[in-house]
Amino acid sequence: MKLLRDIRPIKVENYKLLVLNQLKLPFQEEWLELKDYLQVAKAIKDMIIRGAPLIGIVGAYGFAMGIKQYKNQNPDSLKVKADQIYNTLINSRPTAVNLSWALDRMTTKFKNLTQKGIYGSKLVDELFTEAKRIDLEDFHANKAIGGYGEVLIKENSRILTHCNTGALATSGWGTALGVIRTAYENEKNIFVYVDETRPYLQGSRLTAWELLQEGIPYQIIVDSCAGFLMKQGKIDAVIVGADRITLNGDVANKIGTYSLSVLAKQHNIPFYVAAPTSSFDLNLEKGEDIIIEIRDKKEITHCGNCPVAPQESDALNLSFDITPAENISTIITERGLITEVNREKILKFFNKS
Ligand code: MRU
Repeated sequence: MKLLRDIRPIKVENYKLLVLNQLKLPFQEEWLELKDYLQVAKAIKDMIIRGAPLIGIVGAYGFAMGIKQYKNQNPDSLKVKADQIYNTLINSRPTAVNLSWALDRMTTKFKNLTQKGIYGSKLVDELFTEAKRIDLEDFHANKAIGGYGEVLIKENSRILTHCNTGALATSGWGTALGVIRTAYENEKNIFVYVDETRPYLQGSRLTAWELLQEGIPYQIIVDSCAGFLMKQGKIDAVIVGADRITLNGDVANKIGTYSLSVLAKQHNIPFYVAAPTSSFDLNLEKGEDIIIEIRDKKEITHCGNCPVAPQESDALNLSFDITPAENISTIITERGLITEVNREKILKFFNKS
């Protein structure tokens, strides 16, 4: 078994939250301290940290930090502040369900503790512990996803992945990239094609950086190259992450995922989605119900600060798309696999049928 580097995107020390600034990668490893919940919300919005599970984890710490800021207020005003903190954090990015999942868990904990008369430093400690639990559970979930997913990866596979779903998008290890990591750790001979993932370049900036740390062989391709590589028989599997999975198995993920799923179907290539169960939103029936984030057009018309389009151009920057369940071969979770994804299978998987 190979020993891989333990990449972690955040550090929490003495109630301080330090995050690896993903806007600076791969050129600089800069750690930023986020000092209050408003800075946490801004860091999520500005994509200093990103990736569905990590947004949830950082949101949870942000909630605990917010309560710490106001811990000496009386119970009524603390409750008002808690709602304010929740709303600010939840509105930082709309598509990944992990943020509301983690914040709902934090507010439930807050309510339970305050109902028991727990306030002040004890309340803050308990909330930081709950955020740490969310953080650690995610790490273990990723390892389990890696274990379940790795067996689907055949020896000598050439795998295509999109966006960044690795240690940088989670508490560590990763979901789709975690499956790739686990296969490599288990000494499988694999090769990774990394979609550059326009416009934010999570593939070429972040996934390539992670693969390089581990020595996993890869090549970056432009997003539009995938179809032709499939036609040439050079891709054996596609594996991506998820930002939200609805009851019928539709998956919201980084823009470009839907096109890959159509191409994979056309070329008879397995299309895997790797995600923790915290990425499922069983309150939403289907993909069309998901809010798709639209980001600043400047992310398309510029590369960094350099213009790459006529100044007057308008641009539509849809950050995510929806892949229908019928295009997905298997969803890989920490609790096992869901194959031939549909509503009934998902209800059964969550013991709700
Ligand atoms: O806009 P981003 O970088 O936050 O988008 C990230 C993705 O789309 C990932 O594929 C998804 O969050 C899964 S990460 C394990």
